[in-house]
Amino acid sequence: MTIEHRLNQLRSQLQKAAYAYYVLDNPIMEDSVYDKLYRELEGLEKEYPLLITPDSPTQRVGDRPAAQFVSVKHNIPLYSLENAFDFEELQQWEQKWQRALEGETPEHSGYVCELKIDGSAIALTYEDGLLVRGATRGDGVTGEEITQNIRTIRTIPLRLNLDNPPPRVEVRGEAFLPLDTFEEINQEREKAGENLFANPRNAAAGTLRQLDSRIVAERKLDFFAYTLHIPDAEGFELPTTQWEALEFLQNMGFRVNPNRDLCVDLQAVQDYFDSWDEERKKLPYLTDGAVVKLNDFSLQQELGFTQKFPRWAIALKYAAEEAPTVVKDIIVNVGRTGAVTPMAVMEPVQLAGTTVQRATLHNEDRVKELDIRLGDTVVIRKAGEIIPEVLRVLPELRPAATEPYEMPTTCPECGSTLIRPQGEAVLRCVNSSCPAILRGSLVHWASRNALDIQGLGEKNVILLLEHNLVNSIADIYNLTVEEIMALPRMGQRSAEKLVAAIAASKSQDYARVIYGLGIRFVGKVNAEILTQNFPTLDKLQTATFAKLQGVYGIGEEIAQSVVDWFRVEANQQLIAALQNAGLTFEATQTAPVQTNSSIAGKTFVITGTLPTLKRSEAADKIKAAGGKVTSSVSKKTDYLLAGENAGSKLEKARTLGVTELDEAQFFELLSSTTA
Ligand code: IVH
Repeated sequence: MTIEHRLNQLRSQLQKAAYAYYVLDNPIMEDSVYDKLYRELEGLEKEYPLLITPDSPTQRVGDRPAAQFVSVKHNIPLYSLENAFDFEELQQWEQKWQRALEGETPEHSGYVCELKIDGSAIALTYEDGLLVRGATRGDGVTGEEITQNIRTIRTIPLRLNLDNPPPRVEVRGEAFLPLDTFEEINQEREKAGENLFANPRNAAAGTLRQLDSRIVAERKLDFFAYTLHIPDAEGFELPTTQWEALEFLQNMGFRVNPNRDLCVDLQAVQDYFDSWDEERKKLPYLTDGAVVKLNDFSLQQELGFTQKFPRWAIALKYAAEEAPTVVKDIIVNVGRTGAVTPMAVMEPVQLAGTTVQRATLHNEDRVKELDIRLGDTVVIRKAGEIIPEVLRVLPELRPAATEPYEMPTTCPECGSTLIRPQGEAVLRCVNSSCPAILRGSLVHWASRNALDIQGLGEKNVILLLEHNLVNSIADIYNLTVEEIMALPRMGQRSAEKLVAAIAASKSQDYARVIYGLGIRFVGKVNAEILTQNFPTLDKLQTATFAKLQGVYGIGEEIAQSVVDWFRVEANQQLIAALQNAGLTFEATQTAPVQTNSSIAGKTFVITGTLPTLKRSEAADKIKAAGGKVTSSVSKKTDYLLAGENAGSKLEKARTLGVTELDEAQFFELLSSTTA
């Protein structure tokens, strides 16, 4: 028998045994036998390191910590879920998706109910059956590459159990910490005098982002798979329903939560939900609700997605975390769309692990309905990622002599009369030169998910506006160091940094620019979809309503909003000014990587603090241009991108004669590749 053959035998035996033990909870091999075979495999691999394969059971734990994580763009965004809190909201959701089908008889094979596991969503990519990438959800569009940590999770197969795997398989699911492990970790942290994790979800998220995979391996993370995407599926027989997909995932070697059910109608869904309300407390992990998904993939496909959510799924949540507090003030906030939102300012209170001081009152109708008054004791709640809201007022605790709250009739920022468009619940300031709208637009433009201009947060935006230095978004590209330095509390260094950060934002990609424009209903995911389908500004602004709406993921509302936005003269002027300033209005991400560039195929190491870019951002740019980023300097390193306080890596690079770059030289190199 050849060495290769023996290695294969050992790996396949050990893998089967581990699957039976971890996933099926049904061991087929004595521990002592497992250990012996494992040691034999380890011994042989030590002797023949060239024969080590990435899916070998010995490769679950890496041997050295990563210096940093690299951000990665998900091939398919990870959406979040809309929430329902009772049967009525569930029914409203059913009516909504049925209406969206416009008259078709929505005959369907029911709803799949799954438990909503309280962990951290991760995305796994398999190529030719092999796990090649694991990433955190991040903001849904971009996450962090944490493959080495993912490999430590025993219930995630390193190789799919498929004879003839499709070229690419994407699996999503929830990584979580079992409750007992969570408690053990906290006990150890307490002993060591470290901060405790607030809940298993935070502990899971924190563990996934541990730089040292040896620590991750000790933490015993677990995983339930729930989503399967196979992009290039020609010639493969694939599941056509969620129910089948879950079985398919299980057969491929994943752990799938067994507490699922296929329900014929909403009543059955409600029964499933109720039956788990008490039972769930006996489970070894936390769940905070049920996820209800339309079973048929054909229906899912037809319904598609809104800005953030699939239309074909909803999370039915158990009573969310609530807390009482006292209202100190009621204010209104004018957003960048002119929408006026009433907010309660309250005594700070702890809610779902964070301190909360403000809660939304949504709109005028809601304020009336609640009859909320200064000094009232209110119950606020936070559900999922939603901003806290005032759930109810406790009138028994109301102080004497209070007055009902009246919404203002004029804009608190510009004094113009507020309008409530017919059929809408929202009060709006429609003065397009209202400072609140410009301020909101600028803050949005500079925000992390848009152009990500560091140093241009709300405080500095207000400062610039107060001193009349900007009248539109495009004006920031004309700001000079001298102008900014002259502002109160602004030194030369911060002025220089701000100007550099603004200049750097010109090379942000097209999708960020479109998102930054703040077109109504165009969130981050939609901006991605739009720019992928209309890769130049010209294509986007001439796209018809029908063409826009024909794009998967873009609905009527979004399509109309895009068409309307480009029709406005002032918006056309803004675009022209931004083009003049040198912003990107063309998709570069999807273009094939240039092979003759000075970055493609090259290996970079990034060290120290760069003047404007975060290391992860620099890494993104390198990867987008086809380069590779590694954590340690070796003879194979082509470039060292070094910032301030670069330590041992710089020294090593110098001894090895690796080319050093500072940020400016790096930008030069970048522009020479993408030009
Ligand atoms: S499906 C488009 N299924 O809940 C599909 N999510 O509130 C979206 N989650 O980000 C996700 N258990 O982290 C789905 N069985 C389950 C889930 C589940 C937990 C989490 C997931 C997601 C969040 C949305």
